[in-house]
Amino acid sequence: METNLSFVQFRPAFGDKDLNLENAVKLLKQAKQGIIVLPELFSTGYTFTSKKEAAELAEEAPKGKTCRRVVELSGKMRSTLIAGFAEKSSSKVFNSALVASRGEFLGVYRKAHLFYKEKLWFSQGDTGFRIFDTKDGKVGVIICFDWIYPEATRILAVAGAEVIAHPANLVLPGLAQKGMCVRSLENRIFTITANRVGRETRGEDSFRFTGRSQIVSPKMKVLVKASSTETVVKSVAVDLSEARKKAITRLNDLMAERRVDLYGVLTQLSG
Ligand code: ACM
Repeated sequence: METNLSFVQFRPAFGDKDLNLENAVKLLKQAKQGIIVLPELFSTGYTFTSKKEAAELAEEAPKGKTCRRVVELSGKMRSTLIAGFAEKSSSKVFNSALVASRGEFLGVYRKAHLFYKEKLWFSQGDTGFRIFDTKDGKVGVIICFDWIYPEATRILAVAGAEVIAHPANLVLPGLAQKGMCVRSLENRIFTITANRVGRETRGEDSFRFTGRSQIVSPKMKVLVKASSTETVVKSVAVDLSEARKKAITRLNDLMAERRVDLYGVLTQLSG
């Protein structure tokens, strides 16, 4: 199946949801119809200084402002949008990504592996890893630091993901971009990393976000990429059936030959 994969790379302003949504809407006009990924926490910014602040900026899905706007855009664009936002659910706040496809809210993924002080503001994700089966393709979602746990992407690939949407606010230079190339190769899937740019200094913390958003093919080819500073949207046309070809040689099938009989030990080991 032919589709376009896109990322939006920009610089959200901390706490200014209206401005961030307005900027994202302008940028999205440049994306081609298909699967489009926006950064982690794109509507709030990243560097919270208290749990209270995160709770105040968080919103319920799908009735919050960010969700409603993204769902509406996905309808107008006849596309599937994946976007990071701060989600409030009863007394908890999650670092989440919403998935909206062609005017419909499909659900959220809540970040499983929280990075640094995110642990102070957010609850650990409880959604697990699921496939969003859309008209634009089968999409799995991980958020930023989840990349360093290959299990997350692997579970999604085994469950049939053709594309991993990876909203990010990366701060460790270049590591995740390399890592996501490996995630593509070891699972034979497309990956879209949509990272943000700019510096955010709040409270005791000052983060420079590393940009370099990228789209990687199942054979680890970087199809398109951004610089570490630019605000940009990039799209590439792909054939998603490439992600369903798991044969490495005539005699080796990547997925079928996993030795799950030997891997069971993973669930017993700790630390
Ligand atoms: C990160 O997980 N935002 C580094």
